Amino acid sequence: MTRTQDTASALFRDLTGREPDGLWSSPGRVNLIGEHTDYNDGFVLPFAIPHRTVAAVGLRDDDRGRVRVASTFAAEPVEVALDELDELFPTSTGEEPAVPEWAAYPLGVAWALRQALASTDGAGHSVRGIDIAIASDVLVGAGLSSSAAIEGAAASALNDLWDAGLDRTALARIGRRAENEAVGAPTGIMDQMASMLGEPDAAIFLDCRSLETQLVPLGIAEAGLAILVMDTQVTHAHSTGGYRERRASCELGAEIMGVASLRDVSVGDLPRAEELMDDVTFRRVRHVVTENQRVLDTVRVVREQGARAIGDLLVASHASMRDDFEISVPELDTAVDVALAAGALGARMTGGGFGGAAIALIEADAVEAVSEAVNAAFAASGFTAPNLFTVTPSAGAHRDA
Ligand code: GLA
Repeated sequence: MTRTQDTASALFRDLTGREPDGLWSSPGRVNLIGEHTDYNDGFVLPFAIPHRTVAAVGLRDDDRGRVRVASTFAAEPVEVALDELDELFPTSTGEEPAVPEWAAYPLGVAWALRQALASTDGAGHSVRGIDIAIASDVLVGAGLSSSAAIEGAAASALNDLWDAGLDRTALARIGRRAENEAVGAPTGIMDQMASMLGEPDAAIFLDCRSLETQLVPLGIAEAGLAILVMDTQVTHAHSTGGYRERRASCELGAEIMGVASLRDVSVGDLPRAEELMDDVTFRRVRHVVTENQRVLDTVRVVREQGARAIGDLLVASHASMRDDFEISVPELDTAVDVALAAGALGARMTGGGFGGAAIALIEADAVEAVSEAVNAAFAASGFTAPNLFTVTPSAGAHRDA
């Protein structure tokens, strides 16, 4: 057993006085490229990381139709009746959630899954009272999708124990609904898809319009490479401010161009977009449109030449986020610039921005040198020391025991 599995099991025993029916887990993710493209119906290329959230779960024998959640994030468990979930959610914009935020993730999943099953005329599934204990080693606030990891673990467990029979893509949609409507963060579907569908040593090329996926083998280790995560320790929350504003700019841009979403705008349309829009809206649009193209280019380059050749695309992506989309912060720019100066092949911030982590694609034997350079630069700038570690693309959600 991993330490996180042990912790979740122990928490379940404390909560219920018995062993769980099983353990389910789901990972965090790093996005290789394709940022703020998911809610524009565009393309993304994330991969699952080794850090996982574990849910120890058991059906309740008292059969009173109640769901109870406990987590290492909080001292007290939260318990509600399954019937009450429809009163708790959806949470209206600006409204205080009726449960603590950490509990809104698993309870939101239970709510969304129960609703999905209610609309499918009941074939064979059985929604019953349940106890859920959650432990995680995915860093919170680092832009590594700790929330999608919780949603993925809870959704996988409930799918099995309620005999729901949904596939991974359907479970990712359940997770996204929990995130959007129970937690109130207006995010896209990238994180949930990456967490559900991850595979060792591969990235997931996802078309966020059709939800079709292709695995793109990365061959990172065979090529003598490593991916270094540089967590700036600057925390962010996507339920607030900047993320929402960027989304609104993208919607405005699509409306001005007369299309359903920015997916339908190509690089060739940008001169016309520039004529039609104010400068800020145009730069937001230019980021999304060029970023979609960079995802397509990255997939092609990985397939034709290998991961070693994608460095310039990563660098261009970061510049676009820094200058056009304006979601970087000085700590992220420093991490990227210093990693590149220390020999990284490419580097960019990953995730929603306004803090969180950057990644660098580096030679495997340069991990120490690049880490030292980044640590020294952070110290010299008076920034909080970063948290640096390498990740390998890993498996998505599954039942562990
Ligand atoms: C967050 C959101 C995702 C995506 C990224 C930006 O991680 O959860 O849906 O929009 O930001 O690419």
